Amino acid sequence: MERIYFDNAATTALAPEVFEAMKPYFMEKFGNPSSIHSYGREVRLAIENARKSVASIISARPSDIIFTSGGTESTNTALHAAVEGLGCKTIITSPIEHHATLHTADYLQNSGKATVRYVRLDNHGSIDLNDLEKLLQESTGRCVVTLMHGNNETGFVTDIEVVGLLCERYNAVFHSDIVQTLAHYPVDVRKLRTHFLSATCHKFHGPKGTGLLYADHNLKMEPFIHGGGQERNMRAGTENIYGIIGFAKALELAVAERERTVAQISQLRNHFANRLRHEFPDITFNTPLEQESLINILSIGFPKTEHSEMLLFNLDIHNICVSGGSACSSGAQTGSHVIQALHPGSDQVTVRFSFSRYNTIEEADRTIEVLKSIL
Ligand SMILES: Cc1ncc(COP(=O)(O)O)c(C=O)c1O
Repeated sequence: MERIYFDNAATTALAPEVFEAMKPYFMEKFGNPSSIHSYGREVRLAIENARKSVASIISARPSDIIFTSGGTESTNTALHAAVEGLGCKTIITSPIEHHATLHTADYLQNSGKATVRYVRLDNHGSIDLNDLEKLLQESTGRCVVTLMHGNNETGFVTDIEVVGLLCERYNAVFHSDIVQTLAHYPVDVRKLRTHFLSATCHKFHGPKGTGLLYADHNLKMEPFIHGGGQERNMRAGTENIYGIIGFAKALELAVAERERTVAQISQLRNHFANRLRHEFPDITFNTPLEQESLINILSIGFPKTEHSEMLLFNLDIHNICVSGGSACSSGAQTGSHVIQALHPGSDQVTVRFSFSRYNTIEEADRTIEVLKSIL
């Protein structure tokens, strides 16, 4: 039986159009972009065109775009730059951020360079703005605020424009992880008032191992990786040419098809959510469907029973690929830090279903039948 891939928040399949765009850079156009001869120049031109394309999509300047190895490196770079280069003494974040953020913040705190404070959230993940303002007021020295746009486990979406305004008022540096939302929401850096944004293209049918750091080019930041002068001295190392070409192509496609994709996936998610609600009245929705949430994520809490405990494993046996919380905690039910922060003490069995434009209603229906047979 065909496998069903409902784990698109972990990663997505490469789009054939993206692969086609990348192909020439594996074989014929293999030059090092720093070489001054024609092999180098043709690749340099392609990279700079990719940079311009990505910059114009998010209304940034090409010089604000730094290509990295992924969302994790982008976030590490931004937080290190804020603390070590921009003099931030306090990191304000939330307990439901990705580990790329939380573990970097912990590292900076443990090395004595900054203090980490956590903003209060309600049980959907909505930020208490009064508490954020209080933390900004109480902090001595400059703060860096790092809060994600779309949560990768629950799909909850934060209004980062409002957060940006508050940060501006307190002269705080603002970084946001937009890894899960870049493909689904229009991004305009002029409105967001962020200093840094982290993204990665394997969440929207681009290749793995290529990320984006938007960093306002007026910031006097230090590089995170030292060496050659690539990426305007901000990220040393010969560029991942095919990855960068793939990033730009995947983003161009996502933007061109955004409306259609959002409509298609929303329909699929609503259908699936309605059927789940009907067939399994005891479940809880960790994704707040009545609020702003990512259309491709549906996180469900199943009551713990002898049948539900092995749910992920049994779905896999039936060729249905989903995850527990984030991809990092899939397989065994090790418990997700996000669900624990939002619903302390809960012993629900969490399953995150996440969709892409390659999924169908038939796949959703087959998954319901399999869930019925397991539960
Ligand atoms: C919200 C979020 N931030 C950061 C990352 C890390 O990105 P990458 O895998 O490109 O390092 C992921 C996914 O893996 C994510 O979902």
